[in-house]
Amino acid sequence: MSFDLVLFGGTGDLAWRKLMPALFQAFRHGTLPRDGRIIGVGRDDLSNAQYQAQICARFDQVELAKRPSEEEFCRFAALLEFVQMDLSHPDDYARLVAKLAERQADVVVMYVATAPSLFTTVCQQLAIAGLNTRQTRVVLEKPLGHDLASNRAINRTVSEVFGEKHIFRIDHYLGKPSVQNLFALRFGNALFEPLWRREHIANIQITIAEELGVEQRGAFYETTGALRDMVQNHALQLLCAIGMEPPINSHADAIRDEKLKVLRSLKPWTAESLTQDVIRGQYAAGSIGGAPVAAYREETGVDPHSHTETFVALRTEISNWRWAGVPFYIRTGKRLASRDARIVVNFQPTPHAIFNSQIGDANRLVINLQPKDGLELHLLAQGQSNRRNSQTLSPVQLDLDFDKRFGSERVGAYERLLLEVIDGRLNLFVRSDEQEEAWRWVEPILEHWKNDTLGPRLYAAGTWGPSASSAMIARDGFCWAEES
Ligand code: BG6
Repeated sequence: MSFDLVLFGGTGDLAWRKLMPALFQAFRHGTLPRDGRIIGVGRDDLSNAQYQAQICARFDQVELAKRPSEEEFCRFAALLEFVQMDLSHPDDYARLVAKLAERQADVVVMYVATAPSLFTTVCQQLAIAGLNTRQTRVVLEKPLGHDLASNRAINRTVSEVFGEKHIFRIDHYLGKPSVQNLFALRFGNALFEPLWRREHIANIQITIAEELGVEQRGAFYETTGALRDMVQNHALQLLCAIGMEPPINSHADAIRDEKLKVLRSLKPWTAESLTQDVIRGQYAAGSIGGAPVAAYREETGVDPHSHTETFVALRTEISNWRWAGVPFYIRTGKRLASRDARIVVNFQPTPHAIFNSQIGDANRLVINLQPKDGLELHLLAQGQSNRRNSQTLSPVQLDLDFDKRFGSERVGAYERLLLEVIDGRLNLFVRSDEQEEAWRWVEPILEHWKNDTLGPRLYAAGTWGPSASSAMIARDGFCWAEES
């Protein structure tokens, strides 16, 4: 199968940090279909050779094991071409038409990795240039809008030009092997399903913690914040994967229908829950790995009086028969104590105690997403004891490390997602109604914050966020996993 992959934003950050390394990995693994061209689009006046040299230089910043040898890059570079375009100039699209007309590829992927303000322009211009054919798939990066209205406006314009089956909205968390494994755990095994409900589960905690700050993206982050950057998309997609009903089959719409139902069942916000169940924070100066780091307000591109949140912790419920009353806690933030993404499922305690033991962190399933990728089942067992007839149990744990088990077979998120687009499979992409529902749910929080002059609570970089986040969960009689 032949393909042309057009990369709008071909000289941008995402292209060289994520997309080119992912395409190279697919090339190296032999999974990228053979007859392909990768066409970078950008404003600079570059020849193909200059573009290839630029990409080659960027590979120096990729981790060693994923860098091409000279010979490998030579072969990969043969796929790379460049078209100079100013995306806001309608006339420039003729250059792309001419490039694509050089051959009739079976599949044409238009990857829009530009500033979101250009999404609709690019899609409209593609249509005017006659490039929205049956062979075309358009890929849209997040963030798709900054609230429900802007998200709908983008979706409306894009859908006037492309059918839903041709639109691939990326949430790179869905491409992570660990998230694939979450689906496998739930729907490939019968073991947990009978326990996966309110009668047996006390609470569920979803944490996506980063050690990194906002890096070079201060200006972007200032108008975005953690709620839009991480909760509206990545965290809610994880919550859907945990909370959804088993889909009737593995087709994209069967999966997306079930995720949509979860989003529709999220408990609506009230004035009271907005005050008590949502905590926003912002990092102050602190230290990460022993090295001092600056406060968010000192980062380049950030207002020194900024109220933008770099941390969110919230409590919600899924109001349906399976989950009614079970708290779901979501927590995400930058400059936290460690890079750690995981889902902790805390089961109900035994109904009657015959042993002399503290539950502690037992009775729990931990789904590690990163940096570790695997499962831990925390149980209690009778350990060795000098005392006869000891009734004391000790915590033990079954530990499954997917990286060790599957090693080099693992495929990175962008590599997986790019191959899925080329193959035309929509399972790992977000449908417009899912995305809109997620915006609808976060919007009352954004509105509430707009009117809250107190702003976010400060937390020292290198900690687990403001203490109010622990207080919120303690109200229910629980604590975050690392506190138990
Ligand atoms: C992106 C956010 O979507 O996800 C970033 O815009 C964040 O702010 C990143 O750092 C986290 O992704 P990962 O794969 O490193 O957990």
